[in-house]
Amino acid sequence: MIKNPFLLKGYVSAEYFCNREIETDKMISAIENSRDLTLISPRRLGKTGLIYHVLNQENIKNKYVPIYCDIYQTSNLADFAKVLSNAVFNQIEKTPEKILKKIKQFLSNLSPSVSFNPLTLQAEIDLKIRNVKEAENSIQQIFSLIEKSKKPVVLAIDEFQQITRYPEQNVEALLRTHIQQMTDTRIVFSGSSKHLLSAIFSDYNRPFYHSTQLLTLPKISKNDYSKFISTKFGDAKRSIDDEAISHILDLTRIHTYYVQYFCNRLFESKKRNITKEDPDKTLLDILVENEEYYYTYRNLLTGQQFSLLKAIGKEDGIEKPSSKDFMQKYQLGTTSTINSAIKSLLSKDLIFKEDNKYLVYDVFFSLWLKLLN
Ligand SMILES: Nc1ncnc2c1ncn2[C@@H]1O[C@H](COP(=O)(O)OP(=O)(O)OP(=O)(O)O)[C@@H](O)[C@H]1O
Ligand SMILES: [Mg+2]
Repeated sequence: MIKNPFLLKGYVSAEYFCNREIETDKMISAIENSRDLTLISPRRLGKTGLIYHVLNQENIKNKYVPIYCDIYQTSNLADFAKVLSNAVFNQIEKTPEKILKKIKQFLSNLSPSVSFNPLTLQAEIDLKIRNVKEAENSIQQIFSLIEKSKKPVVLAIDEFQQITRYPEQNVEALLRTHIQQMTDTRIVFSGSSKHLLSAIFSDYNRPFYHSTQLLTLPKISKNDYSKFISTKFGDAKRSIDDEAISHILDLTRIHTYYVQYFCNRLFESKKRNITKEDPDKTLLDILVENEEYYYTYRNLLTGQQFSLLKAIGKEDGIEKPSSKDFMQKYQLGTTSTINSAIKSLLSKDLIFKEDNKYLVYDVFFSLWLKLLN
C-alpha cells in the first residue's frame, strides 16, 4: 500500500498521476498514426512519468508491446546496445532462462550471460562487446528483432541526448538508418538537455532532422494541480486550504518534481487540516536539510558566478542580466563578465531559460539563495 500519495520516483498508476490528458492523447494519436515522437522539457517536469503513463494505457498495452529504456548512464555504443538488449529481452521473455535462450539465438557471438537482480526483479544481461563493429551489429540485430515482433513495438528511448556524448563517429547516422527502416515500430525519444536534443532533431545538417513530431511538455496547469493536491489530502480524510495550495504552487513555480516533493513533506506532517501558515514551515525544513548541498555549490563556483546566481534567485528570475539596473543593484561587474558567468551557469545546469527569463534551475536552491544576505 502507498502511504504517501505524492510520489517522488517511478510511476505507479493513473491514480497518483496528475492530469497530462492532452499530452497523453497527443502521444497516443502519434503512435496510432505511425509518427515517431520527441518529448522535450526541462529536467524534472514529468517526461519519464508521462512516457510510463502512456505505455500503461489500456489501448497501448493491448495493441503494442511497450518497451522503455533509459540511456542516461550510457557513454558509448556498446553501452547503448546493452541497455537496449536488457529492455527488449526483459519485455519479450519473462524468466532469466528463457531470456538467455532467446539472447543466445540472436547475439551468441557476444557471449551473453544473464543474472537475476532481486531488487529490480529483472534479468540483467551482460554482453561482451569488444569493438565498435560488434556494437553496431548487435544494435542492428536488436532493432531487427523489435521490428519483427508480432505485435508492433512502442520503443521509448529516454535521455536520448546522451548519444551526442558518445565518442564514436556517425552515431546519429547509424541510429537514424536503422530507425528509418523500422516501419512497424513507433519510437518515442525523450530528453531534457534542450539545446542538445533540439539540435539532433532541428539541425538541417543532421540525420534526425525533422524526422519526428516534437512535443514540448508544458507545466501542469495551476487549476489541475490544485485539484489533484486537494483530492489526495481529501482521500486521506485530511484537508488543505486553497490558499495553502496556491502558496505551494507559487513557491514551486508548479515545477512537477518540486510540487511533489513539497506535498510529500507536507503530507508526512500528519496535520489533519493544513492551513496557509503550514507551507512556510515545511519550506524551512527542506531548506535547512539541503543547506550542505547549497554550500557545496557555492564552493564549486567562482565568486562572480555565485553572486550572479544569488542575484537571479533574489529576483525570482531575470530577463536581462546585463541590464544596468540589475548589474548595479547587485554590483555584478561588467557586461562581459556577466555574459561569461551566464554561459557557465547554463552549462552547469544551475540556471535555465523559461519564458525569456533566466531562473535558478533548482526551485529550493533558488528560495534558499533568496534568504541569503
Ligand atoms: N503528472 C504527474 N503527476 C504527479 N507526479 C508526477 C507527474 N509527472 C511526474 N511526476 C513526478 O514528478 C517527478 C519528476 O518526474 P519525471 O521523473 O517524470 O521528470 P523528467 O522530466 O523525466 O525528469 P528528468 O529530466 O530529471 O529525467 C517524479 O517524482 C514523478 O513521480
Ligand atoms: Mg526523466
